[in-house]
Amino acid sequence: MDIKKRDLSQIPPENIRNFSIIAHIDHGKSTLADRLLEYTGTLQSRTKSEQFLDKLQVEKERGITVKANTASMFYEKDGKTYLLNLIDTPGHVDFSYEVSRSLYACQGALLLVDAAQGVQAQTMANFYLAFEQDLTIVPIINKIDMVTANPDRVKQQLENLFDFKPKEVILASAKAGIGIKEILDAIVDRMPAPVANPHEPFKALLFDSWYDEYRGVVCLIAIKDGMLKKGDAVALAQAKRKYEILEIGLMYPDETPTGTLHAGQVGYIITGMKTVKEAQIGDTVFNPNSPVKAFPGFKRAKPMVFAGIYPVDTTEFPLLADAVEKLILNDASVTIEKKTSAALGLGFRCGFLGLLHMDVFKERLEQEYDMSIIVTAPSVRFKVILNNGKELEIENPSDFPERQNISEIQEPIINATIIVPKKYLGSIIALCEEKRGVQVEMNYLDEDRVVLKYKLPLNEVATDFYDQLKSLSSGFASFDYEEGGYAPADLVKMDILLNGTQVDALSIIVHSDFAYRIGRSLTERLRKLIQRQLIEVVIQAAIGSKIIARERLAPLRKDVIAKCYGGDITRKRKLLEKQKKGKKKMKQIGSVEMPKEAFYTIMKND
Ligand code: GTP
Repeated sequence: MDIKKRDLSQIPPENIRNFSIIAHIDHGKSTLADRLLEYTGTLQSRTKSEQFLDKLQVEKERGITVKANTASMFYEKDGKTYLLNLIDTPGHVDFSYEVSRSLYACQGALLLVDAAQGVQAQTMANFYLAFEQDLTIVPIINKIDMVTANPDRVKQQLENLFDFKPKEVILASAKAGIGIKEILDAIVDRMPAPVANPHEPFKALLFDSWYDEYRGVVCLIAIKDGMLKKGDAVALAQAKRKYEILEIGLMYPDETPTGTLHAGQVGYIITGMKTVKEAQIGDTVFNPNSPVKAFPGFKRAKPMVFAGIYPVDTTEFPLLADAVEKLILNDASVTIEKKTSAALGLGFRCGFLGLLHMDVFKERLEQEYDMSIIVTAPSVRFKVILNNGKELEIENPSDFPERQNISEIQEPIINATIIVPKKYLGSIIALCEEKRGVQVEMNYLDEDRVVLKYKLPLNEVATDFYDQLKSLSSGFASFDYEEGGYAPADLVKMDILLNGTQVDALSIIVHSDFAYRIGRSLTERLRKLIQRQLIEVVIQAAIGSKIIARERLAPLRKDVIAKCYGGDITRKRKLLEKQKKGKKKMKQIGSVEMPKEAFYTIMKND
């Protein structure tokens, strides 16, 4: 039926189901979401190859979901019309905050597990997020069409780990469209309806928001009690401001105005808000004439990884500022602080939820805003206790106080869960040990897979830990973590000097046991990245005034340069033009030309 002809007031709370799909990355959430939307006729005329619910360009390119998306569908069963509200969630560990906030608006969750890969680290993490919130969980084994599928083994894992009986598990293929009806029936039959009262004053939970260039902030709300219509005034418990409902409707699957929303329903509102900061996730929306008791609210997403972002061409700072401003309109979890670096000029110090989050932000600046930027090596927030007892929180290595004034440095620790096939166990344990990890637990998930629990310093993980974990296990190990407090560590600040001048943007914090090794590997890496130039380049790593590693690039000889051009003027001009074009990739630090990558890749292990 045409959505415009539907009367939402005729859908009582008992005919509503609000649910999420939770899974490990790539287990098929977005594909299943699309199939559900197609089966219920919500999604009709789209090309099937394109996933509807993954919208950002980087999401399309990487096939990952960064931002959670919501869509509603109508499903007829036993002569009744049900309104099903699906909230898609991102699968990567950096975005587990998005998963938890999506779950607040739900009563049920579909737990999707890949039939070939079985339970992975984020399957476990997301299961427990849903379990702790008392959601009804429907287990689904997806991708049963694959030749490598082993649903029996996965059923066994689901029973051992989460106590799901084999008969509760639905076998499906989101790609081939198998099991879709069973899933929709299970949503209706097994999941509870929201507890909602149409006769109480209006009260709704704001659980997501984003910025639309043309219409301002769009908020997603889950209505607990009462109803809301276009033209109503609303207030927000935390914003202490009034707004008017300019538009209200369902995500069907795009924003579709319906004029009203009722108790138990999930939909969007547009109120003329200008930034997502006004739309605090977890806030309570209510009628200013009938105040209600506010929801407890969510804890804010906390940035875990920090990096400097600078334009390669310093005159482009206003462009960068504009682009950053626009991106954070849509992503309230990035923290931004204007910063001046002696080496790189004006830029920003940014905080991210994790490395992927940081990469996505960087790529969006490059792809959507065509910025040529330098991103410095990622760092974490340390606690520095001074000799005078004062405690500082510092994430920028160049802000570290003099060593002699420091009595103790504490670093953030994470509680990591790693699931790995038995045959890679040795190399993964070695990797965790190399990263200063402390083993807490080791259990067999089944005869082939091991669950490892480690305490690891976030500073070690925030480099290339994830890449190494994947490469050492041929992609089979999975990883998830949660914060685990702070612990003292023997850390030192390492500076990098180019021709005797310290480059503030290259300083890093390292464990003193690894300082020499890292110093050598860093200077060597920089030598390879910085090509020979007209002058000699000396690269040094230092701790305080002590030089711990040194590399040298001999100057290019003049006759070599002349020979290069071969006396050919057009060739020379072409080369100069090429050089000009390439300029945006190079940064002049003192008298040395540095490629922009040199500031970021330096932390990677060889
Ligand atoms: P993230 O959003 O990155 O967490 O991934 P996701 O869980 O949404 O996975 P997505 O739907 O993007 O699917 C990942 C890959 O698995 C894609 O290449 C899909 O085409 C494929 N896929 C999904 N479902 C099935 C299935 O039932 N069978 C097969 N063979 N492939 C599937």
